[in-house]
Amino acid sequence: MGSGGSDITRIVIVCAGGQGAVVADILQSAREAGSDAVPVGFVDDTPGLAGTAVLGLNVLAPISELGDIDHDAVIVALGDNQARSEMTERLLASGERLATAIHPCACIAPSASIGEGSMISAGAIVTPRAAIGRGVILNTSASVDHDSIVGDFAHVSAGATVGARCHIGAEALIAIGATVASMMTVGARTIIGSGAVVVAHIPAGVVAFGVPARIRPDRKP
Ligand SMILES: CC(C)(COP(=O)(O)OP(=O)(O)OC[C@H]1O[C@@H](n2cnc3c(N)ncnc32)[C@H](O)[C@@H]1OP(=O)(O)O)[C@@H](O)C(=O)NCCC(=O)NCCS
Repeated sequence: MGSGGSDITRIVIVCAGGQGAVVADILQSAREAGSDAVPVGFVDDTPGLAGTAVLGLNVLAPISELGDIDHDAVIVALGDNQARSEMTERLLASGERLATAIHPCACIAPSASIGEGSMISAGAIVTPRAAIGRGVILNTSASVDHDSIVGDFAHVSAGATVGARCHIGAEALIAIGATVASMMTVGARTIIGSGAVVVAHIPAGVVAFGVPARIRPDRKP
């Protein structure tokens, strides 16, 4: 685990912020558990970060110098869904390959699928036939139940629960501790607030929170 393909071994983590540290920890834990994937360091454009280290991994260069670093694939560790999507598409267009980071303490059903570039943290659970898209973050102890679909670049936050046969749209955020009841749909780029319970379909491009979750027309994602 920890790699998007058997021939991928050297992975550069794009961005060295909080999600970058999470991904470094996932890859280091996977390596200790026997993965052949090796995180070689970070690239990050933040002034002053080059030459520093995060969890013992060096920030090697700005993103524009990625081509000078020996590597097989990248993983884009940006917490913001739209920014992660845009950066990933830009890097793919420049010829990069995507790695996938799966913590050895995540539990993924063999019949589930995980898209390239996704980051699955410790304690996450994905049950049979769930389909996780590309560049998705499944954070600590998030769960996605059977036959659900999580769209590209969505984020299921720590402790959030997606029931069975749900459809979570691309770039949606299911915030910390929220629950999406089985068979519900959450539209693309929608934010479901922390602790919310979704018991009705929620359209694209809205913010909803509360129990039951209600759309807040005065807020935009
Ligand atoms: C839904 C959310 C995005 C709304 O943010 P916001 O628009 O900035 O809202 P505000 O903080 O200005 O709060 C506005 C009001 O809504 C309430 N509110 C906000 N989020 C709420 C929530 N999740 N549940 C219940 N009430 C909430 C606030 O208490 C406040 O009420 P008040 O006007 O009576 O004081 C945010 O609260 C949230 O849930 N963020 C989660 C982020 C997260 O988990 N990210 C993942 C990181 S791993």
